[in-house]
Amino acid sequence: MCGIVGYVGFQECPLILLDALKRLEYRGYDSAGIAVVHDKKILFHRAVGKLINLEHHLLKHPLKGTIGIGHTRWATHGKPSELNAHPHVVDDIAVVHNGIIENYVALKQEIQQKGIVFSSQTDTEVIAHLIALFIKEGNRFEDAVRKAISRLKGSFALGIICAQQPHKLIAVRKESPLIIGIGDGEYFIASDAPALLPYTKRVYFMNDGEMAILSPDGMELVDFKGNILPFKTTEIPWTPLLAEKAGYKHFMQKEIFEQPRVITDTFRGRFDPETGEINFEEFDLGQIGDLKKIWIVACGTSYHAGLVGKYMLERLCRLPVEVDLGSEFRYRKPIIDRDMLLILISQSGETADTLAAMREGQKKGVKTLGICNVLGSTLARECDFVIYTHAGPEIGVASTKAFTTQLTVLYLLSLYFAAWLQRLSSSEVKQYLYDLMELSSKIEAALSAAEEIEALAPKYAKFKDFLYLGRGLYYPIALEGALKLKEISYIHAEAYAAGEMKHGPIALIDENMPVVVLAPKGDTYEKIRSNMEEVLSRQGKVIAVTEPDCREIAEKAEDVIKVPEIANPFLKTILYTIPLQLLAYYMAVFKGTDVDQPRNLAKSVTVE
Ligand code: AGP
Repeated sequence: MCGIVGYVGFQECPLILLDALKRLEYRGYDSAGIAVVHDKKILFHRAVGKLINLEHHLLKHPLKGTIGIGHTRWATHGKPSELNAHPHVVDDIAVVHNGIIENYVALKQEIQQKGIVFSSQTDTEVIAHLIALFIKEGNRFEDAVRKAISRLKGSFALGIICAQQPHKLIAVRKESPLIIGIGDGEYFIASDAPALLPYTKRVYFMNDGEMAILSPDGMELVDFKGNILPFKTTEIPWTPLLAEKAGYKHFMQKEIFEQPRVITDTFRGRFDPETGEINFEEFDLGQIGDLKKIWIVACGTSYHAGLVGKYMLERLCRLPVEVDLGSEFRYRKPIIDRDMLLILISQSGETADTLAAMREGQKKGVKTLGICNVLGSTLARECDFVIYTHAGPEIGVASTKAFTTQLTVLYLLSLYFAAWLQRLSSSEVKQYLYDLMELSSKIEAALSAAEEIEALAPKYAKFKDFLYLGRGLYYPIALEGALKLKEISYIHAEAYAAGEMKHGPIALIDENMPVVVLAPKGDTYEKIRSNMEEVLSRQGKVIAVTEPDCREIAEKAEDVIKVPEIANPFLKTILYTIPLQLLAYYMAVFKGTDVDQPRNLAKSVTVE
């Protein structure tokens, strides 16, 4: 998730662009850059690391210009480097991009066959070359842009300038957000509202398939065929901080509601639905040789993702999978074979216990694969291979979108291994991949229960203890739900494999014990139903999470949270996670705890 900005008007813009980029810093950055048009030339600076590095560069070598674009990179293709930083400049064209170009490899080969040499590993550079080529063929700047974007597949929010058109800033939007700020004789573009607020509150939220040609004289909005479109501007009533939360009360709430988009961003471009072929940019099976066993090590929420991954990998690949807590793994002298694959899961990529486990495995000559959300983190740099979740920066201490994007990667990885080990036919893999395409809309439907779940908070926030019960794939989901509740509402919550109740925990049940029961349709439905009866017969209060037509569950529970139907048992775990995140969130809000920064906790536990 990168951040793009742009300006065209009467003011000198380099410092405006830099200030706007600073207001997008929460979107994450591993490099940044700015390009302007001055004296019919493109001038630009790019720097790796924090924005302060770009600022120092600009102070030493100031740029001048009243039109420009800027970018903070949260990389998806190509490691952080000056060459991979945006803007990408080709001839008289400079481009900044947020999104993923799914067909960039084919386009890059096509352009290279014309003898053109690329200078970066990014997907974005393809866009700059296409526009430059169409201009060379005699097209006007805006026509060259339209021809170029008609070749692109995937998601893109673009800011584009041309040295020969020093008064035209072009903005394009397809599936990645882009907002236009309207001033007096000046226009701004930005990925998110905070970047615009110090300059204007009058904005136009671009829609998919729109292109804007902005100049000090005005704004023209067209579709990708060049047809003029009407537009209505609105006023943003937010303060800059509120804008960073996009109007949500907390970062955690925003991140819960970002899940449909970031899960799509995580699988986008990583498989071809027609052929069923799966590919990870930074990981190729050919590099690991024989694969006999998998060991997953992680902490906290990432550990729960690993437990779900175990079910996925064992069912789909028929490979033995062990899962360990980072803090336990290294001290129990694990028996590690060299033909194992050690998978480390970590949102931050800096968790000390997980890093220690990685190093323990590497000492014993095991190949290590990191599943990580932060590009350039220690885990990402030191693992032999890495697969990134494209969740964007997760600011809330309680992990939400990182967890569901980890499950998405583990699901894709299970299919990747299953195809390679020939455990699944290509038609079975294609069907499993097809199921991903409907996932985001199902998550949106699960999120639509937010108000009903919020209404439960006053009734349940007074209780001191909760139990969460799940079976099979849903036992780790119960663990995750209990962790969410305890870490942000400070209410004690424990999760059990539902079949374990009769071995002790059922002694806890009485009218003061709310029990969240995950009751998905499937092979354990009847079993979980009888577990629920055991709880009810001891006056336990059951909050059932189940599907719309599970009437016998709904009739008996104290309260019911409905989850939309989805046949795929693996992806259903993501849907069942959503209400548990929301329940924990609204309970914490009702109790008035510090939702984004809960007491005693840090976002990344970098010490043992
Ligand atoms: C989860 O909500 C917590 N913030 C915590 O358990 C976290 O998952 C754990 O510390 C691991 O962090 P990592 O994914 O960055 O390694």
